[in-house]
Amino acid sequence: MKNHLHTPQEIRNQIWKELVRATQDRHHTWRTPVLATSSDNGLVNARTVVLREVDVVQRNLVIYTDERSSKVPEIMKQQAGLFFFWSSRLNWQLRVRVNITASTSGLEVEQRWQRVSQSATANDYLGQDAPGTVRRETVNTTMTTSHKNYFTLLIAAVTEMDWLELGRDGHRRARILTESWEWLTP
Ligand SMILES: Cc1cc2nc3c(=O)[nH]c(=O)nc-3n(C[C@H](O)[C@H](O)[C@H](O)COP(=O)(O)O)c2cc1C
Repeated sequence: MKNHLHTPQEIRNQIWKELVRATQDRHHTWRTPVLATSSDNGLVNARTVVLREVDVVQRNLVIYTDERSSKVPEIMKQQAGLFFFWSSRLNWQLRVRVNITASTSGLEVEQRWQRVSQSATANDYLGQDAPGTVRRETVNTTMTTSHKNYFTLLIAAVTEMDWLELGRDGHRRARILTESWEWLTP
């Protein structure tokens, strides 16, 4: 479908355009990528997250999370992570290597919390129990909230992308670095 994109620059621009669109369009499949990180003992961990912001100039992807979720200490220990995106509309798989920084205070966090705290998702960052805490009851949808918020920004600096396009007449794949482009065998 996207075979009209020929040059690396065209493809690179379109990738970033799609990433930005994903933050604005609820139905864009790239809005909910999987973020993989390393956990202790060389194990891996992966979970769905919402892509909240994309800074094309700084080449950053931004996620919101709860400070107490297990991904935060994992990132503190090993900041290398990987975002996994698939779009059946584009027929594109995108794997994005990142270095992630967790931020729990400061102006950037405060400004966003001001906005998020007024929204329906505020409770995601106000739970009395940390995410992953064992519960006695099997089902409990009512949540006790605390006065403290655990809102945390995960700022992921893109270091490398692996782009794969499936096409009827053949597939295309490339390794994309900030300043370089390498075509790969798909
Ligand atoms: C559609 C969807 C979107 C999600 N978005 C987020 C998110 O933006 N941030 C987040 O911390 N968790 C999000 N979650 C929950 C995570 O997948 C995960 O269960 C939780 O963050 C705990 O993960 P961890 O123990 O690996 O830290 C989302 C889950 C789903 C199904």
